[in-house]
Amino acid sequence: MNVDLIYFSGTGNSYKTIETCKEMFLQNGCKTTLSSVTDKPIIRKQSDLIGFCFPVYAFGIPRICRKYLLNLPKFKRPINSFILITAGDSDESGFSIKESAKILKKKGLTVIYSDVIQMPINWTVSMNPPSKKEALSIIDRGVKKAKEIALDILNGIPHHHVFNYPPKCSKIGFYRDYYLFKWLGVSSLWRNFRIDNTCDSCGLCEKLCPTESIQIVHEKPKWANTCEQCMRCVNYCPKQAIFQKGEGSIKGKNIYYEPTFKPLKVKTEKHVKANATGNESRVVHRRHSTC
Ligand SMILES: Cc1cc2nc3c(=O)[nH]c(=O)nc-3n(C[C@H](O)[C@H](O)[C@H](O)COP(=O)(O)O)c2cc1C
Repeated sequence: MNVDLIYFSGTGNSYKTIETCKEMFLQNGCKTTLSSVTDKPIIRKQSDLIGFCFPVYAFGIPRICRKYLLNLPKFKRPINSFILITAGDSDESGFSIKESAKILKKKGLTVIYSDVIQMPINWTVSMNPPSKKEALSIIDRGVKKAKEIALDILNGIPHHHVFNYPPKCSKIGFYRDYYLFKWLGVSSLWRNFRIDNTCDSCGLCEKLCPTESIQIVHEKPKWANTCEQCMRCVNYCPKQAIFQKGEGSIKGKNIYYEPTFKPLKVKTEKHVKANATGNESRVVHRRHSTC
């Protein structure tokens, strides 16, 4: 079976999840590719299964993922797909699966599996991520679930995540946050980034940004409106110098990124290779390629 896996990840949770699935598919003899929506996503002509893994942002999927899905061509033959969402709290995955599934259906893909995997929260500007120890145990559980999901998919066991309003917030609060972030948040929050006087202009934030939305100007980072609010810059800043206006400094908070995630390495892999068992010559390297 040919499996193409597509992800977006700010701090490594979605990468870890989909990479775990990839390993399971490989172990079971599938020819598998893994690529990011920010690079050159690979969908092969002979793909049998396309898997997506995205984080949830304020009950929806990140803008860049929505755009990617909307730009997919209409598939001319039926292809199975699955959607995995990583969330700080699996009850709070909101419309993320519904949103993605609706678009995929329009593109002619059949969603055979969808689920939410709880991973550590990374929204450090607004919340406090778990401690390192807590984070590791959440990741362990997430990885275990990802393995089980991959096996279910391989064994043809379907699953469809059922959306429930998050128990912790009112319906009004839910819709407010969802629409505010979707229509206003991503298009305006980039303006709210600030740095404190501990920033030593190391430039790491600029190098790491998955959407290339940070530029060092006069030795200080400046954010552009293509910022997805993925929190990579905030969590990787060695000085914890980045914060958002109105939220206050993040100093004293836990920071979070998935400890095995190597964003620089992932970023510099310009042409994502088909993996060891994949036959590279058969791989179509095209942005938004069709089947
Ligand atoms: C802007 C933003 C909004 C988020 N909104 C939610 C949310 O509504 N519900 C939730 O459970 N987690 C939320 N999170 C947490 C992330 O979805 C979670 O930590 C995810 O696993 C991060 O994935 P990544 O490491 O692949 O970027 C949010 C994180 C960010 C940065």
